[in-house]
Amino acid sequence: MKKVTKAVIPAAGLGTRFLPATKALPKEMLPIIDTPNIHYIVKEAVEAGITDILIIVSHAKEPIEDYFDVNYELETRLKETGKLKQAEEIREIANMANIFYVRQKEPKGLGDAIGYARSFASGEPIAVLLGDDLIDDKERPAIGELIEAYEQTGGTILGCRRVPKELLRKYGVVKPTAKAEGKVFEVMDMVEKPKDPSLAPSDIAVLGRYVLPPEIFDVIARTPKGVGGEVQLTDAIKLSLEKRKCYACLFTGERYDIGDKFGYIKATLDFALRRDDLRENVLDYLRRINEENR
Ligand code: G1P
Repeated sequence: MKKVTKAVIPAAGLGTRFLPATKALPKEMLPIIDTPNIHYIVKEAVEAGITDILIIVSHAKEPIEDYFDVNYELETRLKETGKLKQAEEIREIANMANIFYVRQKEPKGLGDAIGYARSFASGEPIAVLLGDDLIDDKERPAIGELIEAYEQTGGTILGCRRVPKELLRKYGVVKPTAKAEGKVFEVMDMVEKPKDPSLAPSDIAVLGRYVLPPEIFDVIARTPKGVGGEVQLTDAIKLSLEKRKCYACLFTGERYDIGDKFGYIKATLDFALRRDDLRENVLDYLRRINEENR
């Protein structure tokens, strides 16, 4: 079995939930404190052993390419003014991985976007990381857990967690086998964004991480449009169940839905509380707000 060394990050969406900022800035570049959120996604992949990353973009996403490129002028300026550590930091970003870009020509859904990775994958399995799901795992990268499950089972792997019933409508929801237990278990069926909790086959949702086998591209090509008139990755995976087993992997680590404003605030606060340069001030401020609002 081929080792998983390639990852795909879809980043073609308009980011309408973060307008007006996303009128002029890709949502992937919105910072958690001082670091664009896509940096954390790339870092997670790199820490799991990924060497090559394809970012699927659309027009007006050039700031992402600039961010992962070398910026000689800025580096030179920083060095000239003695800011050597910062110069080194911005250089390291350009060396994180081999990053490639392709444009999704029309917004036709996540399945369609992943379809653009066919020649990048070139017959190998791919890890997929969605930017709206930020997973902070101090011990090991979430996608690394999925890659391990892929290596053990050889099946399609879905990064999953249990979510409250009222939120299931936002996600792809899996139907596990009757004897589902432990961290990795087989999935028999999936439903993309069930309108009502009663239509959801379980409370186990797919949260933005996948390892997909090489044949997924042929399956995507024959997947009809689904929810929202878009080609859904969930539907393609469902079709692929005929030939390839599929497993849910309940990853550990704190997951933030940063496609949601409150989720974004939570991530920002938690990340700040973990930083020595910010923790005390942020805690003091939170205590003060708490007192004032009692
Ligand atoms: C996508 C997928 C959905 C998955 C979700 C994870 O939906 O279609 O199956 O559960 O990501 O975050 P989106 O949030 O892009 O609408």
